[in-house]
Amino acid sequence: MSVLIKNGRIVTAVDDYEADVFIGGEQVDVIGRDLEIAADRVIDAAGKLVIPGGVDPHTHLEMPFGGTTTSDNFETGTRAAAFGGTTTVVDFAIQTKGTSTIAALDSWRAKAEGRTAIDYAFHMIVTDMPDERIPEMRRLADEGVTSYKMFMAYPGVMLSDDGTIFRAMRKAGEDGTLVCMHAENGVVIDELVKLALAEGHIEPKYHALTRPTRLEAEGAHRALAIAEVARAPVYIVHLSCYDALQEVRMAQARGVMAHAETCPQYLLLDVDAYDEPGFDGAKYVLTPPLREKWNQDELWRALRGDALHAISTDHCPFCMREQKELGREDFSKIPNGGPGVENRMSLIYHHGVGLGRIGLNRFVELTSTGPAKIFGLFPRKGTIAVGSDADIVVFDSEREETISRFNPHTHHMNIDYSAYEGFQVKGFTETVLSRGKVVVDRGEYLGRPGDGRFVKRGPYGGMYRESLAHMRRELF
Ligand code: URP
Ligand code: ZN
Ligand code: ZN
Repeated sequence: MSVLIKNGRIVTAVDDYEADVFIGGEQVDVIGRDLEIAADRVIDAAGKLVIPGGVDPHTHLEMPFGGTTTSDNFETGTRAAAFGGTTTVVDFAIQTKGTSTIAALDSWRAKAEGRTAIDYAFHMIVTDMPDERIPEMRRLADEGVTSYKMFMAYPGVMLSDDGTIFRAMRKAGEDGTLVCMHAENGVVIDELVKLALAEGHIEPKYHALTRPTRLEAEGAHRALAIAEVARAPVYIVHLSCYDALQEVRMAQARGVMAHAETCPQYLLLDVDAYDEPGFDGAKYVLTPPLREKWNQDELWRALRGDALHAISTDHCPFCMREQKELGREDFSKIPNGGPGVENRMSLIYHHGVGLGRIGLNRFVELTSTGPAKIFGLFPRKGTIAVGSDADIVVFDSEREETISRFNPHTHHMNIDYSAYEGFQVKGFTETVLSRGKVVVDRGEYLGRPGDGRFVKRGPYGGMYRESLAHMRRELF
C-alpha cells in the first residue's frame, strides 16, 4: 500500500522545509514539492510537522526484575510507543549469569517475535564476561546486537567488577561496538540501604536518600576513566543529575569518547514526588532516583548544548497493585522502574521546544537521530530521506492534551498509574507510519502484533566513529 503525505513541514535533525513525501513500499521513495503521484492513501499534513519516528534507545519490556516482571509486554509496550510517536525501541536482553549471551538473545528474540507494533532491537545486559566468553561479543555484533549494558549497581545480581568492564570495553572498542553503563556505586548504596533499614526507615523516599548524586557521579567518573584507558566510547544511561553531568563534561573536554542520555523523569519530576501521600511515592522508585529540582535546569542546558546526546525513557513499568506493593514494608523491595514510553515525544516537545529550551531540529536529534546514529540504526532510522525506512510521524504542534492514566488518548501502557498524571502538553502525535504502514491514525490503532521486526543494528555510528577508527590500540 502506497502513501503520499502532502503539504507537511518536514523537520529532521538538520532540515526544516515544506514538501510532500511519497512512500511506495517500506521506504521513502520521493520527497518533493507538489508531488502528483497516485497513492493508495493520501494524508494531508497541512499545518503539521512531519518528523522521523522516535527512537527510544532504552526500554524494558517483559523484563524479570526485582521479583516480578515489567507490566508491559512486547505487544502492549510497543503499541503504546507507537501511539506516542516512537517507531523503534532498543530493549534489553539479559544474560543469565554464567551462561551464554547468545542464548539470552535467542530467548529475548523469541519473546518479541510476532508481537510488536513497531521495529525493535536489543542491547545485551552483560552480567559476566570471563575471557572465554569475550568472543561472544563479536558474535552478538554479527547478530545485530552492537551494544551492551553493564551495571556498577546491584551487587550480586547485575554488577560487573571494574576488570570485567575494562575487558568488555576493550573488546567493544576493537569491534566498533558500544558499552552502555549504569553508573552508580552499588556497593556503597547497599551499605546505605542497610543502615536506613536498620534505623527503621522503610518508606519509598529512602530509595532516593540512599542513592545520593555523589555515588552516581562516582560511577560515571569511574566508567569514563575506564573507557578512556580502554580507548573505547562509552554511553552513560539514565543520567539524572548535575554531579554526574559534570563528570561527563570533564571527560568530554579531555577527549574521552563519552555519550550520555537523560530521561523525561529527570527533566520533569523531582524528589518531592516521594512525599506523595501514603505509599504513592513508590510510583517514582526508579533508578537513579528523582533528584532535587535545580538539577533539571542543568540537564536542559546540557541538552541544548552538546554534553547530552539522547533522551530515552528507561520505560520500566511496574503496577502499584501487586508489583510496587512488594515493597510496602521495605523500600528496597519496591521494583525499580517507571513508565513513560508513550509520553516522551509530547513531553519533550512541550517542555523543550514549546518552552524554548531546545529548538525543533534538536528535538528531533535528541529523540530520534542521535540515538539512531549512536546505536547503528542510522540512516535506516532517525531521519526522513530517500531510501530510509518510512518511519514517520505527523505531529500536531497545536493539539493540547492532559496526560493521565484516565485519558484514553495518552495512556495505552499496561500500567495502573501515570508518572506524569495531570501534565498538560501542547504537541501531540496524530499519525504514525512504521515502515510505510499507517499504524496509528488520530487515536486509532490500525496495526497488528507482528508488524514490527527485529532490526539488526550496524556498528557504533556516533560522533566519535572516525576517532575510533583511527585509534591506536596499543596500551603501552
Ligand atoms: O529503575 C530502573 N531504571 N529500572 C530499570 C533498570 C535500569 O537500571 O535501567
Ligand atoms: Zn540502569
Ligand atoms: Zn533501564
